Amino acid sequence: MKSILVTGGAGFIGSNFIKFMLEKHDYKIINLDLLTYAGNLENLTDIENNPKYTFIKGDICDKSLVKDIFNKYGIDSIINFAAESHVDRSIENPEIFLQTNILGTHNLLENAKRAWKIAPDDKYSREYKDGVKFLQVSTDEVYGDLGETGLFTEETNLQPNSPYSASKTSADLMVRAYHETFGMPVNITRCSNNYGPYQFPEKLIPLMINNCENNKKLPVYGDGMQIRDWLHVKDHCIAIETVLHKGKTGEVYNIGGNNEKANIEIVKLIIKNLGKSEDLIEYVKDRPGHDRRYAIDNTKITTELGWSPSYTFEEGIKETIEWHMNNKDWMRKVTSGEYMNYYNRMYSQRTVDKDCQTV
Ligand code: NAD
Ligand code: DAU
Repeated sequence: MKSILVTGGAGFIGSNFIKFMLEKHDYKIINLDLLTYAGNLENLTDIENNPKYTFIKGDICDKSLVKDIFNKYGIDSIINFAAESHVDRSIENPEIFLQTNILGTHNLLENAKRAWKIAPDDKYSREYKDGVKFLQVSTDEVYGDLGETGLFTEETNLQPNSPYSASKTSADLMVRAYHETFGMPVNITRCSNNYGPYQFPEKLIPLMINNCENNKKLPVYGDGMQIRDWLHVKDHCIAIETVLHKGKTGEVYNIGGNNEKANIEIVKLIIKNLGKSEDLIEYVKDRPGHDRRYAIDNTKITTELGWSPSYTFEEGIKETIEWHMNNKDWMRKVTSGEYMNYYNRMYSQRTVDKDCQTV
């Protein structure tokens, strides 16, 4: 049975991915997660006793721990989800983003090289064991701001604008370097904005659902006309599974839902679905360095690997709101304690942006 090391598997996308893979395949899955504020074992209660699943609490930067995991579990593939993932937090404190996203990825690469190379001590050898792969879960934010027209292709220049996206870009480049220099079998996926069950409510959609449900103000940054290309998390999981199995070694694949929406449209859709009033909307100070538009050209993954998104946004957002209504305890737990400190820190100084209120 193949062993897959999933890092960051207690977070939003990683936990959805583990459950999806355990249901569909006979793989052993080892989940290495530090359980930062974003990691939550309650996302995985349905499968915690599955004999094919092992959880290890630890840091992807920990050299001896990662080495031991390779030795003990005979890892065949790594899917690296582990990251500091929130742009606003990267503006507040960039350093941890460099640590986890860059150095952590490098530590995984170095251990994979040592475990997978047929002659690990021969620096000229480029031969690897059969069937191994390092899959780096990256983001469309590495391309920076798209402007009003066009789409991101895999050839678009890398121009990250936030400390978060700069750290993810650095990790991508290190993965690329391990392929070019050491011959490591790698893929990089660059996905657009995800939504769906178990997303931490620092991100737009769950934050707005939670605030709206509790009749709290809905803090829209700037004029709310920034555009993101939304993809349901289950479609992202299927895309990663597809790249794991069929991705050509060394290739980058963009993943996106052909689904561009302005933030304010999403906020209004949530308000409508929950039967609340648009008076809850509050335009607040914009995010510094805020990218105006992202949109993915997914031609490569659709034509070469046969993946395509299955959810329409209308279905997906309705299902996500229903999930939240049926899982209020999950939200109650993740928003207790530290979350309110975060929320107050992040939003109390974001005075109302009067210039935008007429939009
Ligand atoms: P998340 O913040 O919900 O989860 C991140 C997980 O990583 C958490 O469980 C956390 O505990 C863990 N983690 C953090 N630092 C760690 C460390 N040093 N060692 C081990 N584990 C650590 O993030 P997410 O939204 O699930 O995103 C997962 C990945 O997908 C990230 O790499 C992100 O850049 C990428 N991505 C996210 C989106 C999106 O819309 N959410 C879109 C494209 C790409
Ligand atoms: O594009 C992929 C990226 O999508 C991932 O790499 C990141 O990990 C993920 O966090 C996400 O980044 P964004 O910055 O696009 O997501 P976020 O949910 O933070 O914000 C979405 C948009 O909504 C963005 O334009 C900022 C805006 N926003 C966000 C919040 C939290 C608001 O207007 N108000 C808010 O309170």
